[in-house]
Amino acid sequence: MQAVLIDGDGIGPEVTAAACRVVAAAGVKVDWIRAPAGAAAAADYGDPLPDETLELIRRYRVALKGPVTTPVGRGFRSVNVRLRQGLDLFASVRPVTSLAGVTTPYENVDLVVVRENTEGLYAGLEHEVVPGVVESVRLVTRAAAERIVRFAFELARARGRRVVTFCHKADVMRLSDGLFLECARAVADDYPFVLFDEKAIDNVCLELAADPTRFDVLVMENQFGDLISDLCAGLVGGLGVVPGANIGGRNAVFEAVHGSAPDIAGTGRANPIAVVRSAAMLLDHVGRHEAAAQIERAVAATLQAGVGLTPDLGGSGTTATLTDELVRQVAR
Ligand code: NAI
Ligand code: MG
Repeated sequence: MQAVLIDGDGIGPEVTAAACRVVAAAGVKVDWIRAPAGAAAAADYGDPLPDETLELIRRYRVALKGPVTTPVGRGFRSVNVRLRQGLDLFASVRPVTSLAGVTTPYENVDLVVVRENTEGLYAGLEHEVVPGVVESVRLVTRAAAERIVRFAFELARARGRRVVTFCHKADVMRLSDGLFLECARAVADDYPFVLFDEKAIDNVCLELAADPTRFDVLVMENQFGDLISDLCAGLVGGLGVVPGANIGGRNAVFEAVHGSAPDIAGTGRANPIAVVRSAAMLLDHVGRHEAAAQIERAVAATLQAGVGLTPDLGGSGTTATLTDELVRQVAR
């Protein structure tokens, strides 16, 4: 099969290379089509997201992506926001599950964060009103709100999950989350066999800290989803282990929740598991369910054996030692 590969910046090339090795070890022959994005692309093409990259993803439908660095401040729109909007990858899906062998305050966490990926406070609509006053627009459209909630319910139905919790702040943002909540309730009516729950986002934070095992599928606006994803990653072992997918009607881009981690880039300390598991999600998406499951089993076995683990997991290994062990386990 063919798939696009974006190496990314910082630890990106280190962890995507690891993922390609593990996929190959699982016996899937992937012809990876390299596409530029991020700081290197900005230098070579004058654009951190060249059109060519979007075209390649449109052609091959799926991509594995390393994290990219977005310079803070004027002049650059986030590559990720452009990618998600440009390909209409409207749903971000982040499965958050406890992993045996990773010490955390909770066991048996098994939830999915579904995040609206194209609008909300990350729509990119910001402007200066007068010097010293800026506005960020929090865009909510009925079409996008209904689409993401329906996606969450379909995911729940397909995976036999029982509860969809819609997270909002409708009491304060009466219009934007008011509309979102109205859409969520309407869509929920179409799924009588999945329980629907609605909760204020601050309350969700409290309950996630107190007992994350209470949650099943969570669906929310873009920025809330960004924050909750990182929070949930912290519940199960950190950014190094949580995979993700950005899914649209036609294309899908798979990537970890974490960023380019410039603080550890080049030191061999990067944990490749999040991107390895994102690659497994890609395989699952294209119907290679057995290979995907094989990779997940290899991750579980590696963590349980505690061999080669990187410092974020309490080990003294490196990206290379952990990848070697994953490759060994997946090929067993
Ligand atoms: P970050 O996720 O890169 O790093 C946060 C902390 O987690 C750092 O201490 C880092 O060392 C650690 N960490 C992250 N991934 C790790 C891994 N695989 N193994 C071990 N430790 C890991 O977030 P930060 O520092 O806020 O952002 C850095 C850059 O990444 C920024 O330019 C940001 O815009 C970009 N970013 C890109 C994303 C993407 O392309 N999807 C997502 C998030 C941030
Ligand atoms: Mg984030």
